[in-house]
Amino acid sequence: MQKDLFINGQWISPSSGQMIDVIDPSDRSVFHQVAAAGAQDVDAAVKAARAAFDQGPWPRMTGAQRADILQKMGDEIVARTDELARMEVRDNGKPLPEAVWDVEDTAGVFHFYADMARSFDETTEKDIKLSMDGFTSRAVKEPVGVAGAIIPWNFPMLMAAWKVAPALAAGCTVVLKPSELTPLTALELGVIAQKAGLPDGALNILTGLGPDAGQPLTEHPLVDKLAFTGSVPTGSRIMATAARDIKTISLELGGKSPMVVFEDADIDEAVEWILFGIFWNQGEVCSATSRVMIHEDIYPSLIERLVDETAKIKIGHGLEDSVLLGPLVSQSQHEKVLAAIEKGKTEATLLSGGGVPSGLEHGCYVEPTIFADVPTDAWIWNEEIFGPVVCIRKFSTEDEAVSLANGSRFGLAAAVLSNDLERAERVAKAFQAGIVWINCSQPTFTEAPWGGYKQSGIGRELGEWGFNNYLETKQITTYDRSAPWGWYIKE
Ligand code: NAI
Ligand code: MG
Repeated sequence: MQKDLFINGQWISPSSGQMIDVIDPSDRSVFHQVAAAGAQDVDAAVKAARAAFDQGPWPRMTGAQRADILQKMGDEIVARTDELARMEVRDNGKPLPEAVWDVEDTAGVFHFYADMARSFDETTEKDIKLSMDGFTSRAVKEPVGVAGAIIPWNFPMLMAAWKVAPALAAGCTVVLKPSELTPLTALELGVIAQKAGLPDGALNILTGLGPDAGQPLTEHPLVDKLAFTGSVPTGSRIMATAARDIKTISLELGGKSPMVVFEDADIDEAVEWILFGIFWNQGEVCSATSRVMIHEDIYPSLIERLVDETAKIKIGHGLEDSVLLGPLVSQSQHEKVLAAIEKGKTEATLLSGGGVPSGLEHGCYVEPTIFADVPTDAWIWNEEIFGPVVCIRKFSTEDEAVSLANGSRFGLAAAVLSNDLERAERVAKAFQAGIVWINCSQPTFTEAPWGGYKQSGIGRELGEWGFNNYLETKQITTYDRSAPWGWYIKE
């Protein structure tokens, strides 16, 4: 396990000498320490990235050359899947099969952007037809420069890949700051990059606290672009900081994502997608299905099935067989989610869970929790809880369902379940959300755009959209000199 900062291809101790405890949330034990970067370390990392961009080989390579290195990084991640997944379980708490899935997706993201870098050589320049004779114009795509990436703890390695892979593919250089709660797999990316032959300074990784390491990165004048995933307050602050130097930003923030279940939906499928939507990854998912609207005709029967199936969910250590719900990421997240549940008990009907599972008091565990008949003005209906807590209510008409779904300041994801595909399509179009699922919830694809409407963020990650985040567009116009311009100098 790494512990130092990765700056300019070197592993170095933090200038302050301070370290951060790395904690296993399954028993709250400290099992490692990593460097706590401060402003001085951020400055060194940004300067290394700047030099690697301004003078280094990385942005000057062809897309195909960059692709070879990204491909090798993906291959190395595949080769280390089991080890990296176990590291993620220990640091984050999630069940092993979900961690394996994350690591496989991470490799997939590197491989996808390797392909994109390769095809970039053919698509870098686009001719533009002008309306005035004598001129030709081209739009040329170029890397934006030094990218600062700040990521959360819910999918530690995958969130790193969502930013690092497209940025590197585009020819940018990167300073990555993982969450202080889950720094380990992000640091391994440094080892993987070195092994794959990534030039020094192209990727720098700083572990540290938000205010001490994240904030100076957002303020640094030599950073051109900021990419952030995390909470709305931190995103808002980063946006304000970025405004000073007019840095380009992309933000992927919170959500309170709805699911509408119509009366003609298949009940078994509905139970599956609701459970997966809210309990997968302990509900610590920005797009989690945290609000469910069920048609009144099937409300009592669907709720009964949900409660029955929820009781069967095995809670426990992420390495235990057939566990579907691990501990939450940290003590503070545990306290935050339990406090939200207590508030919910005063606002709605508690049907399942609502506390710490007995026998698991030594870790940050929370029971899968279901609230029903939740009023629309309840705190738990409106605020992101970021834990295994679902809020349910009924509806009677399609219009009512759509207006309930859209009645949120967030707009990340939304889902609709119905056998009537025309209706599902109509509702999908009416949702104010960046990601809409018809007859499913949560599947995420590297090829497809990911991001939110309203307070859920700005911009899109993944696919070609994620790649474009790291590109500038330059116009190059050439005059054919067939006649003098002749505005000032007359013949
Ligand atoms: P956070 O938004 O504060 O942290 C995310 C990242 O931002 C971390 O790397 C953190 O160190 C960094 N950061 C914190 N303050 C910063 C600052 N002033 N400048 C620059 N970077 C800074 O989220 P946190 O505290 O980990 O979790 C709080 C809540 O945020 C969660 O309960 C959840 O509701 C939400 N959240 C949403 C996520 C999403 O995917 N949309 C992911 C993680 C948390
Ligand atoms: Mg941890």
